[in-house]
Amino acid sequence: MIESLPTSLDTAPLRWGSVPLASRDPLARVPRLAPLAGYTTLAFRLAVRELGGLGLATTDLVNARALLLRSRRTMELIQTCPADRPVAVQLYGNSADEMRDAARWLEDYGITSVDINMGCPVHKVTRGGGGSAMLCDRDKTVDLVRGIVEAVRIPVTVKMRLGWDDASITAPLFARAFEEVGVAAITLHGRTRSQGFGGTVNLDGIRRTVEAVRRIPVIGNGDIRTIDDAARMRALTGCHGVAIGRGALLNPWIFHQLERWERTGDPGPSATYAERLAFMVRHFHLLVEHRGERFGCLSFRKVANWYCRVLRPGRDVQQRLIRLESVAEFDSIASGLRDTEAHRDDREWHGPELSIPVPSGPIERW
Ligand SMILES: Cc1cc2nc3c(=O)[nH]c(=O)nc-3n(C[C@H](O)[C@H](O)[C@H](O)COP(=O)(O)O)c2cc1C
Repeated sequence: MIESLPTSLDTAPLRWGSVPLASRDPLARVPRLAPLAGYTTLAFRLAVRELGGLGLATTDLVNARALLLRSRRTMELIQTCPADRPVAVQLYGNSADEMRDAARWLEDYGITSVDINMGCPVHKVTRGGGGSAMLCDRDKTVDLVRGIVEAVRIPVTVKMRLGWDDASITAPLFARAFEEVGVAAITLHGRTRSQGFGGTVNLDGIRRTVEAVRRIPVIGNGDIRTIDDAARMRALTGCHGVAIGRGALLNPWIFHQLERWERTGDPGPSATYAERLAFMVRHFHLLVEHRGERFGCLSFRKVANWYCRVLRPGRDVQQRLIRLESVAEFDSIASGLRDTEAHRDDREWHGPELSIPVPSGPIERW
């Protein structure tokens, strides 16, 4: 395990929007939940927040135009509540006017900060010039970002990839330009668009981006699954904080463990079977509370397989969970699993990594 972090981390003056931060300010240091469209719902965010240690969480990406039209689906995606703070809503789009107006609307709606998506590699988003395609036209993108920063008082952040491909690692240049127009922080997924989710995270590219900015925090992201991974990201890139996506689905306690590790040098024990089961129950009931029984059950089906991988309830329960229809059925399954608790070996939880589906095949067809 990497025990110490570069001392430069402790002296760099950080800012959050117009607010200067003490270098140890938790907003920059406390790990963030990276957005995972379809998974990082309000219910999941709240369930993770209850475990402790989580700083900023970000909603799924939402289209600026759809937000301005108050599309029902978009309003569901930005659903939040006072316990879900601090929270950023992530916008995508390529029209400067729509992005600016959507950011203004979000400010009035009471969101903590607005994040601009410049990382999504999926064709539906990039074909209109949004997501990672914004990394291809620097002047237009910087103008768009400046327009948003000037229109709102809340912090505006950017989440981006290293660049379009290996031949154009543009993140350091963009980061510097974003800092100049007033962006409050940058989250950097250390892959290029053409890498998709393949290969490994380029820590050197993140480091170069950290070195390119003067004051604002750069948050390192990609493939952090353990405390060691987070420590490595911090130590080798000099980043000011980390954002964790898939690793939080695998281990929702990771934020709490990181916070404890930073404070005491010991991440504490891994979650037991009983805690994992309780987390699943809490997640499900929050889904139902926010979306109603029918949609809550439908949403849960999407995540049922991960819970089955870690809880290993057997094929019969798995089949029932992936076709879940009602709260009563869920409660009866959970109570059956609780009855088997005493026979479970907690070591099972250190088992195989959950596979979170990512787009695959040639990236041009994503
Ligand atoms: C299923 C899925 C959905 C994602 N949705 C978003 C999104 O809405 N906005 C975004 O900026 N990144 C999105 N990402 C990228 C993640 O936020 C993150 O940058 C990437 O998964 C690498 O970090 P990780 O290894 O910690 O997951 C998504 C990734 C996955 C796998």
